[in-house]
Amino acid sequence: MRIARRMEAISPSATIGMKVKADELRAQGREVLSFALGEPDFPTPDNVIEAGKRALDEGETKYTAATGTLALRQAIATATERDLGVQYDPGQVVVSNGAKHSLCNLAMTMVQPGDEIIVFSPFWVTYPDQLSLCGGRPVVVETTDKDDFQPDLDRIRAAITPWTTTIMINSPSNPTGAVYQREIIEGIAEIALEHDLLIVSDEIYKQIRFDGNGHLSPAQLCDEVKERTVIVDGVAKSYAMTGWRIGWICAPPEIASACGSLQGQSTSCPNAIAQAATIEALNGPQDSVQTMREQFERRRDFVVGRLAEIPEVSCATPRGAFYAFPNVSAYYGRKFGEHTINGSLDMAEYLLTEGLISLVPGEAFGADDYIRLSFAASMEEIDEGLMRFAQALA
Ligand SMILES: Cc1ncc(COP(=O)(O)O)c(C=O)c1O
Repeated sequence: MRIARRMEAISPSATIGMKVKADELRAQGREVLSFALGEPDFPTPDNVIEAGKRALDEGETKYTAATGTLALRQAIATATERDLGVQYDPGQVVVSNGAKHSLCNLAMTMVQPGDEIIVFSPFWVTYPDQLSLCGGRPVVVETTDKDDFQPDLDRIRAAITPWTTTIMINSPSNPTGAVYQREIIEGIAEIALEHDLLIVSDEIYKQIRFDGNGHLSPAQLCDEVKERTVIVDGVAKSYAMTGWRIGWICAPPEIASACGSLQGQSTSCPNAIAQAATIEALNGPQDSVQTMREQFERRRDFVVGRLAEIPEVSCATPRGAFYAFPNVSAYYGRKFGEHTINGSLDMAEYLLTEGLISLVPGEAFGADDYIRLSFAASMEEIDEGLMRFAQALA
């Protein structure tokens, strides 16, 4: 069977092999604790579930406009103004089947073969593959725990070539939990203006921030920057709605229109019932967002404290999202029984087979010195998991 060449850009998920192994261990009756998942462990709030049921009862079960119902796009525009103080016309909003789909639409509509797109490592695993699929060249600018994973503006400048079209940012970040400082966002915006670049700002974790930090989108800086920024957002993380599959962009009109046309011919529209429920998520009471945020912050404190007790493991304090990204490279080159740890894949495999904890190797995020631990798990599980982590490395 001939598979199209472009599929060579898609690498198999690094986590799938780990999941298969974890499942094998579970089938043998071993109790594996998973800290690999990128989804909140909380249930979707009741008011949102009720809105979904109501949509079914009221027959909202047909195709909607390709870009989403006007009511939802209006609700997104209103929520964006409430949260960021930035105004969008509903015509600038395109609702998709999750933010991952929104990002894929953007890659399809904005990336020409040979275009260079700056992404910061550690990056969310999906960015490079989606860009490469469309013939784009992800140009990776490294950030490290030594700088709290804040991008270096000189390094960005040095990475720009005549083929650079876009800078992608993700704050709060998956996998590092970094929240970009104001001067970094301002610096990136300045560079984008100087070189006529688009900024794609993935703000899916914007509600999950700690230490009283605010959120800053480049679109908030000034109209000139807003006009070259696409905000990517969704309900998956903030409202524990991963399975409902609703994400969106707020974008300059030409980009919104191109994504709408693509969507009309690819998926027709996002799920109608999930759209109705999303209106309730955005317009209804927001206390569940606050409750989840507080729980994540408590767990963050706990995880950071416990990781600090493990010799030679260091961890930049996550300022948002629900991941810790400890640096475990001091252990590379060492042998534990029959396991030699030569990188994050070996480390993840060792922790799984000997420690019975599942984490995601940093290599998947372009950062082999680290390993990702999601704290979207109960305190008891985190407590037990970190004990196993420490014991495995002892
Ligand atoms: C940084 C980042 N962007 C986008 C997404 C996609 O979210 P959704 O579930 O809405 O597709 C994720 C999900 O893990 C993510 O971590």
